[in-house]
Amino acid sequence: NIDLVEKVKAEIRDVVDFPKEGIVFKDITPIMLDPQLSNEIVEHLATQYKDSGITKIAGIESRGFLFGYPLAMRLGIPFILIRKKGKLPYKKVSYSYDLEYGSATIEMHEDAVDANDKVLVHDDLLATGGSAEAAAHLIKKCGASVEAFNFLVSLDFLEGDQKLKQFTDNIQAIVNY
Ligand code: PRP
Ligand code: MG
Repeated sequence: NIDLVEKVKAEIRDVVDFPKEGIVFKDITPIMLDPQLSNEIVEHLATQYKDSGITKIAGIESRGFLFGYPLAMRLGIPFILIRKKGKLPYKKVSYSYDLEYGSATIEMHEDAVDANDKVLVHDDLLATGGSAEAAAHLIKKCGASVEAFNFLVSLDFLEGDQKLKQFTDNIQAIVNY
């Protein structure tokens, strides 16, 4: 759907030197100002995944919630929140991973998935792949399998997909840079 790709590209705003000098931030908030386009994105993704066998969608806090949950509702399947440490109230499973400086921990409710689940991991952006890789490890730790990864935007030149291929080759984005 070249038309949709061009429309999404046109709405992504480059913010130079954010969050620090030398980084060009891909700002997706203009997409949310356009409900028509937002709907088209959800419809496009629903068509893409409706016969894929996925049983649940896991969204990565926070921007992975924006389109992950509407898509899950559209497909009629459950949505799971993968959150930064300390945010979820119930019994949790955690996964810690290394960052450039220090480390990070993400969490998911222990009853969010079971061994029969085939999960689509969704986020707004694939950069280094660290966040999506950690989310996939967390899902596997709970006994479920990672069926696919989906992003609105992929920064292909960072080769984040190399970290994700250990889980599945089904890695897709609407816009690739
Ligand atoms: C950004 C983005 C992805 C992640 C991509 O989230 O939304 O989740 O970084 O980077 P990676 O592929 O190198 O892991 P951020 O941590 O800024 O938080 P937010 O979604 O809450 O804004
Ligand atoms: Mg994020």
